[in-house]
Amino acid sequence: MLTALVKRSKPLPSNSKLLILGGGFSGQRIAALTKALGNNVLCTRREASKPGADIIFDSRTQQLPPKEALEGVTHLVSCIPPSEDGTDPVITNLIEHLKVMPLEWVGYLSTTGVYGDSKGDWVTEKDHPRPTLLRSKRRLACEEAWKATGLPLQILRLPGIYGPGRSVLQSVLNGNSKMIDKPGQVFSRIHLDDIACATLHLIHQAKIGQRPTVINVADDIPIANTEVIRYASKLLGRSLPPVEPFESAATKMSPMALSFWQENRRISNKLLCKDLGYTLIHPDYQSGLKDCLLKDGL
Ligand SMILES: NC(=O)c1ccc[n+]([C@@H]2O[C@H](COP(=O)([O-])OP(=O)(O)OC[C@H]3O[C@@H](n4cnc5c(N)ncnc54)[C@H](OP(=O)(O)O)[C@@H]3O)[C@@H](O)[C@H]2O)c1
Repeated sequence: MLTALVKRSKPLPSNSKLLILGGGFSGQRIAALTKALGNNVLCTRREASKPGADIIFDSRTQQLPPKEALEGVTHLVSCIPPSEDGTDPVITNLIEHLKVMPLEWVGYLSTTGVYGDSKGDWVTEKDHPRPTLLRSKRRLACEEAWKATGLPLQILRLPGIYGPGRSVLQSVLNGNSKMIDKPGQVFSRIHLDDIACATLHLIHQAKIGQRPTVINVADDIPIANTEVIRYASKLLGRSLPPVEPFESAATKMSPMALSFWQENRRISNKLLCKDLGYTLIHPDYQSGLKDCLLKDGL
């Protein structure tokens, strides 16, 4: 399943060691690709029983990775979200270790939520972040904390992540998808495989001196959720749920679900795809969902 990704990616130099802090959905995919390319990769999770848990790091219990695992790390990716108190779990617990690593590149997976509401306009890395939600304010504070470390950092700002096992196909199948109509509202997305391949691409670009501190990693087509559900239902041969106006749907939403509808922005990927030459594997949700359908065996 990794063959196509391996074909289009270049391994890290042979003496590299990649440490992935937080090997969840994205972290596992970056790890799998980099391992398949023949590189030395270590991945942390909070429990040894979880897939791909090479070592344990859990900031809640202060369980830190063993010292020898942290030695000789040349590349690092943190996929760990802010703690409940808004601080960054990696910086709080591991910064002294990070400072003595021979790090050539550090990636921090952040969110496009830091931009706040652009009222549907396109947003580029040049736009000043104006987070409105508490979680996005915390995220921006973590970005700032990472910048302040002085490490060779690149912040990857991601919109909604989807991929095999975690896409609208599952919600259509289990009857949880909702056709909520809010005219003008769009969402940006990124397929998991593009996060993995773009990460490798960015590491290589950084090596030749191209390392913008902040980079959006999004597909080409911000679009209404109703269109995505419509396409997923067609792929699965399911009938569409009834369309409900946002005003009535909002009265039944959790505060978390509602918060996603409070902001509207189109994330530009021009810096990644034009200036830095990355070619998306899944430039739109149709391509990405067809891939999920295939890999999920649906
Ligand atoms: N999901 C989205 O649509 C989305 C969109 C934009 C940005 N993001 C952000 O992008 C990053 C990657 O997303 P993802 O969906 O791949 O994340 P994910 O699957 O939730 O993985 C997060 C990882 O962080 C680890 N982790 C969480 N809290 C920790 C702590 N206190 N100490 C140590 N490890 C901790 C988790 O450990 P375990 O493996 O043990 O669970 C997991 O490996 C995250 O920061 C996420 O918030 C996500």
